[in-house]
Amino acid sequence: MLPETLHALISSRRAVRRFTPEPVPDDVIRHCLELATLAPSSCNLQPWSFQVIRSPELLQKLHPVCLGQSAARAPLIIAVLARPDTWKASCAQIISDWPEPQVPTAIKRFYSGPAPFQYNQGRFGWRSLYKVPMLALMGLRKAVMRSPSTPGEMRIWAVKSTALAAQNLMLAFQSHGYATCPMEGFDERRLRRTLTLPKAAIPIMLLAVGKPGERAVYNPRLRFPLEQLTQWL
Ligand SMILES: Cc1cc2nc3c(=O)[nH]c(=O)nc-3n(C[C@H](O)[C@H](O)[C@H](O)COP(=O)(O)O)c2cc1C
Repeated sequence: MLPETLHALISSRRAVRRFTPEPVPDDVIRHCLELATLAPSSCNLQPWSFQVIRSPELLQKLHPVCLGQSAARAPLIIAVLARPDTWKASCAQIISDWPEPQVPTAIKRFYSGPAPFQYNQGRFGWRSLYKVPMLALMGLRKAVMRSPSTPGEMRIWAVKSTALAAQNLMLAFQSHGYATCPMEGFDERRLRRTLTLPKAAIPIMLLAVGKPGERAVYNPRLRFPLEQLTQWL
């Protein structure tokens, strides 16, 4: 792919706050979700899931949950969920779904030993009680992976990879000619009730999707200069 092509795609994406009622076809949604799942993830554990909301009744209910903001009037909203709770099933699935006839021994070993050790924090995080001091001790002699070692770090762990999937999702819709607005302006408690989210799922953003309406972008683009943000070492 040419750099100009990627430049055009990335730079044409803007947060759009007004959409037309034109629905987004299911095959477009499916393709974009497939591209979202091509995002890299920690240990390839893919700690994300999505809820695709097209039902007019549900969209109507979501509008006040999204604090009445105009972007939430989109014909499609996708709830992007980080899943700190799926690592165990994913370790097993990586072995069962391995895309070659023979699962390499190193893969089998990793997903039944070091990976579960790293991600299993135990009920209410009781394993952190010994993992954190143990890693601190081991870390005196050599480099060790210190996190995630607590339930809070598991949440950050899942959110990191899921945010990458969310960005893929936005760019995928952009490539199909649909605009998006990522929204974290919502009442999480009410959202949980409205969508019946899995208890451990973290709704990192609601993605409004549709064709841009009139005066869809509110402000000119503003970014801080690269010099301010970058250290060249
Ligand atoms: C995590 C996240 C949450 C956001 N939440 C909202 C939101 O609730 N409502 C909204 O109108 N825009 C929201 N935005 C969009 C930002 O305001 C927007 O991306 C930013 O102003 C830069 O504009 P641009 O995306 O057009 O370059 C959010 C963006 C991100 C990444």
